[in-house]
Amino acid sequence: MGVNALFGGGCSHFPGRERPGYGYPSPMRLKEPVTQGLYFRRKARGSKDSIAQGFSPENEATNKPGRLRPVQTFPFCYFCLQNKNCMNNFWKDLPKPAFTLAPMEDVTDTTFRQLLMEISDPEFFHVVFTEFTSTDGMCHPVGRPNVISRLRVSDSERELLRKTGIKLVAQIWGANPEKYYQSVKFICEEFDFDGIDINMGCPVKKIVKQGACSALIGQNQLVTEIIQATKEASCIPVSVKTRTGIKQHITEDWIGHLLEQDLAAITLHCRTQKDQSEAPADWNEITKAVNVRDSSEKDIPLYGNGDVISVEDALVKCDQTGADGVMVGRGIFHNPWFFNHPQIEISTQQKLDLLWRHVDLFTETWGSEKHFAILKRFFKIYTNSFYGAGHLRAQLMETNSAGEVRAVIDAFS
Ligand SMILES: Cc1cc2nc3c(=O)[nH]c(=O)nc-3n(C[C@H](O)[C@H](O)[C@H](O)COP(=O)(O)O)c2cc1C
Repeated sequence: MGVNALFGGGCSHFPGRERPGYGYPSPMRLKEPVTQGLYFRRKARGSKDSIAQGFSPENEATNKPGRLRPVQTFPFCYFCLQNKNCMNNFWKDLPKPAFTLAPMEDVTDTTFRQLLMEISDPEFFHVVFTEFTSTDGMCHPVGRPNVISRLRVSDSERELLRKTGIKLVAQIWGANPEKYYQSVKFICEEFDFDGIDINMGCPVKKIVKQGACSALIGQNQLVTEIIQATKEASCIPVSVKTRTGIKQHITEDWIGHLLEQDLAAITLHCRTQKDQSEAPADWNEITKAVNVRDSSEKDIPLYGNGDVISVEDALVKCDQTGADGVMVGRGIFHNPWFFNHPQIEISTQQKLDLLWRHVDLFTETWGSEKHFAILKRFFKIYTNSFYGAGHLRAQLMETNSAGEVRAVIDAFS
């Protein structure tokens, strides 16, 4: 039996992806834990390690989810006496302010992340997120292959992550703690991410109706269970991205509750669910959240999100609010070279080269798996502020293949 088996493993003192015996009664586990924690254990038919086996597609049909029940386990690394979530918590090692790229559906796939890494200065670019990925979908035998394509990391992106030191976080969403447990266990076993982020901010109606994402704001009991289930299953740090409230800001109460969960980091999009993305982001709410954090005993990095338009803007916002960094969303559409400081003059040729690089990478990575039409939303970001940009863009919008894009670019140059 290794140290991981004895002490739960996975912290920086005993890094390890596997935590044998974890969640099961063991003579090595303290009867009275230092802090009482809610941990999840699942009993399934005829299976010793029901959690690992229960997730496989073959078992899905016969091995119906067992009932989750809280069990007490030893929640601390014996040596550092920190919460298990201390394990390799890269969030605490990031420079201040740190710059993260927001998770964006149909935008931040492996190709776009790679593209940005190729043109950014790693001094101003620290964390990227996947598109949000459904825990319900991951636990569904038919839907799973499609859903997990959102978690794909190409070899070339992996190589860049290694070279630049940029961290990659998988974002997940759902409303069922057990599905979080199963999904995260699977992610930790099958993928190689630096962190898991729980989406508690998406305001889209069909998702909110399922009780997930921003619908979780203020659902303190369920949120506690979801975070605990995720942390229980996770071999990597767990963070949350959220908003300031549903109809009104409830920043202090909500962030207060999240701080109690000992997350590795929190990103706060300073709009309510009702604001969607239209209302101006209110950075006073970030100041409030930082004050709550500072007056608690928690040393949890807090990142502000909403309408960050440049590195200069980010530096001012962090200075004014005390945030540990910013998350950049649509700012990247206005300037793909966002993560550089000072900004460099970008020529028309560089824009066209980047456009082609994106189309080329996308088609090479996805083939026919993803619709070519997804690329069209990007054309605008590369074709602006030069003579003839509007006409070129209109022509590009008519294309249906990488070859056609190439022909349009060649005719323009
Ligand atoms: C096209 C698009 C897709 C998005 N998809 C996600 C997502 O998958 N997960 C998430 O947490 N937020 C998502 N968001 C929200 C962004 O992460 C970010 O919180 C929001 O755009 C506000 O930041 P901004 O004002 O800098 O754009 C998305 C936003 C856009 C514009």
